[in-house]
Amino acid sequence: MDGASVAPPGEEWSERIVKGMTRMRYRPLGPSGLMVSVIGLGCNNLGRDKTLTQTQQGTDAVVGAAIDAGITLFDTADIYGSTRGLSEERLGVALKGKRDRVVLATKFGMDMAGTNGPEWGARASRRYIRIAVEASLRRLQTDWIDLYQLHRPDGITPIEETLAALDELIAEGKIRYIGHSNLDGWQIAEAEFTARIGGHPRFVSAQNEYSLIERGAEREVLPAVNAYGLGFLPFFPLFNGVFTGKFGGGARPADSRIMHTRPEVLDRVDWDVYARYEAFAASRGLTVLEATYGWLLAQPGLTSVIAGATRPEQVVQNAACAAVSLGEADVAEISAIWS
Ligand SMILES: NC(=O)c1ccc[n+]([C@@H]2O[C@H](COP(=O)([O-])OP(=O)(O)OC[C@H]3O[C@@H](n4cnc5c(N)ncnc54)[C@H](OP(=O)(O)O)[C@@H]3O)[C@@H](O)[C@H]2O)c1
Repeated sequence: MDGASVAPPGEEWSERIVKGMTRMRYRPLGPSGLMVSVIGLGCNNLGRDKTLTQTQQGTDAVVGAAIDAGITLFDTADIYGSTRGLSEERLGVALKGKRDRVVLATKFGMDMAGTNGPEWGARASRRYIRIAVEASLRRLQTDWIDLYQLHRPDGITPIEETLAALDELIAEGKIRYIGHSNLDGWQIAEAEFTARIGGHPRFVSAQNEYSLIERGAEREVLPAVNAYGLGFLPFFPLFNGVFTGKFGGGARPADSRIMHTRPEVLDRVDWDVYARYEAFAASRGLTVLEATYGWLLAQPGLTSVIAGATRPEQVVQNAACAAVSLGEADVAEISAIWS
């Protein structure tokens, strides 16, 4: 990889030319010094049935393509994969010898079906976190996790206990930064002030569902994220693959995750609106994928688009979208098309 350059303070840290092809950009994750690529790789396809990334070979190809394209942020979770932990295991192998070149994000707090022993639903507790982090470190074959995220609140554990337990892991060097996922707006505010009052490290990022079709985060989550200067990592940013362009004109590719796993996703798409969107993108010389990435990257507070991928070609296309920069009018028009 060729040289990186640092922009003057206050400007977005940009730009690295990788193999003369991709222009990747990097941003700090929220109120932290953790620099991440604006295009990340969501890793819930690693070890997933019926995908090329089910195998280690397929995973190595996708992860290798991502690193070559300048992607640094890899987002997984202990629960991902056809068996619990398989995505972390695949990623750990794929990153052998490359660990220091990436920002590794994982999550705890979903039901691991007993893999982490009995937990009575309290998966944000100190007791549980100590077990979960060791298991993730082992599967990822690493000594540290860059971003350790609470996957979802457990409805039992006070957030103060979760923060204190994560604080201990930071002090021990097992994790570097902390993030949360699937919190409501009031829970984000509660977590922020609990950290401040208790003198704990703050969560630096929020991960919630957000896409052109699922805009619920605009009501309370994004206002809270922006009020506290958190980084935002949208999940299902391509609405499971709808916004890649491959479902346009009635196409239904049989090898896509939507068709073999979640065909009901397509029922939520207004295909007349989609056709208008396709035409708008074409009028600007953009593909649907490029317009979608451009819209996402223009949203205030959004740090990195962590779309998943099942093939190296997809990663290359997605990484190239880092170069898309839409004007305000185009962003507003896209928002209006999908309002
Ligand atoms: N925090 C949470 O609760 C939560 C929940 C869900 C996901 N996540 C995270 O968010 C990440 C992103 O979500 P996601 O991967 O499920 O959904 P997504 O990003 O909306 O869609 C990804 C899918 O789109 C298709 N695709 C991507 N790029 C493409 C391209 N250039 N050309 C054609 N097809 C392309 C691939 O599927 P096919 O090849 O199979 O069509 C891929 O699996 C996950 O990987 C995970 O890290 C978090």
